[in-house]
Amino acid sequence: MTIIEPFRIKSVEPILFTTREQRAAILEKAFYNAFLIKADDVIIDLLTDSGTSAMSSAQWAGIMIGDESYAGSNSFFRFESAVQEMTGMPIVIPTHQGRASEKILFSIIGGKGKYIVSNTLFDTTRANIEVSGAEGVDLLCPEGKLPQVPAPFKGNMDVEALEKFIQEKGAEHIPLCMITVTNNSGGGQPVSMQNIRDVKKVCTQYGIPLFIDACRFAENSYFIKLREKEFANVSVPAIARELFSYADGCTMSAKKDAFANIGGFIALRDEALALKCRNLLIITDGFPTYGGLAGRDLEAIAIGLHEVMDEHYLQYRIRSIEYLTEKLIAEGVPVMQPAGGHAVYIDAKAFLPHIPSDQYPGQALVGALYLEGGIRGVEIGSLMFGKYDDAGQLIPSMMELVRLAIPRRVYTQSHIDYVAEVIIKVFKERHQIKGLAITYEAPTLRHFTARLKEIS
Ligand code: F0G
Repeated sequence: MTIIEPFRIKSVEPILFTTREQRAAILEKAFYNAFLIKADDVIIDLLTDSGTSAMSSAQWAGIMIGDESYAGSNSFFRFESAVQEMTGMPIVIPTHQGRASEKILFSIIGGKGKYIVSNTLFDTTRANIEVSGAEGVDLLCPEGKLPQVPAPFKGNMDVEALEKFIQEKGAEHIPLCMITVTNNSGGGQPVSMQNIRDVKKVCTQYGIPLFIDACRFAENSYFIKLREKEFANVSVPAIARELFSYADGCTMSAKKDAFANIGGFIALRDEALALKCRNLLIITDGFPTYGGLAGRDLEAIAIGLHEVMDEHYLQYRIRSIEYLTEKLIAEGVPVMQPAGGHAVYIDAKAFLPHIPSDQYPGQALVGALYLEGGIRGVEIGSLMFGKYDDAGQLIPSMMELVRLAIPRRVYTQSHIDYVAEVIIKVFKERHQIKGLAITYEAPTLRHFTARLKEIS
């Protein structure tokens, strides 16, 4: 049976159409950087699944009853209970989005000479760690580094490498271990409960706190249900509770699995750390019962956290990514396998073998998809993660991926069919795609504002 969208559409937004000639001009004007294209000039926007979800009628109703009191708002208490129920953590600190949580956390526990270990840090997480003077270290399991080889839990941390790293650097220099679920930068791949237990064991042995980057906790929990036998008959909320039970804290961007357009939080068990976080929060985001959000946002998040754990929703969600992935595999398009939780990842290195890393194959493919079909994706490769050595040579990223992130509850199956058709057409004509050169870049997070030109 077809797995159908488990919702009806009550309110719609028009899509504006452009011609190929118009898109060619737009792309050049945007310096071949999809972040610099106006949203109105995009037909299918797969730039991110962050803040782009369709809110439910219940969430919109919640918006109307948001309590905008500066301190002690009703909406905060509903938000706090929802996060406590989901994580089992007693302390909940709202922030305006995920990176605000990261900024606060790493300003406190980061600093020079320290290492934050992870399966894979997301780019804003890594940037906040590095800005504090600390170093971010990704210790992903070996199978996670092979895009086209399927395995059930490619987001797992390499536990052996973790233990070796701790012994090498000394636990006193590692203030935190952070597991990202699902592993966004590594293909939206899930982390198994067993892996979290194993990492927790090592962390406990060396006295290192374990944190979860919880942006996509529900998608990860559903994968655990599907792929880890022990959990086949366990409910998603119970799986999530167990997952968080191993953690000392978490950061979350509510723009993902809470279906909210803005928001985030830090959840903790340690009151002393919470005190420091709240002190910083007051300077940067706001009073601890609103944290840079409106009361209505807190309502929308509280309701969204409940809705996201519905298994009909999660079944449809995970299936819709798999559906697109399967269509691409059938035509030989190199994609990350198996399908991730929130996005399809095209292996741009294999898609465009004639373009070397220092000509940014991922970014070139992003441009080609926009030109052909008005589809906007994002490069997760050497433009995002590349660094330079002392001689000014690019140290490329481990992988060159293009992420097509599917906003939650936004596009229908025919939109996805169209996306598949465009990608397949571009794949057949891939030899015409040219590499790119950077003409401007910022010192950090350069992919957001970089300017590029085609190499002729
Ligand atoms: N952690 C992960 C795993 C993320 O995917 C993101 C954001 C953040 C932290 C930061 O959250 O955007 O609310 O500040 N990811 C978005 C994306 C931007 O497109 O993947 P934020």
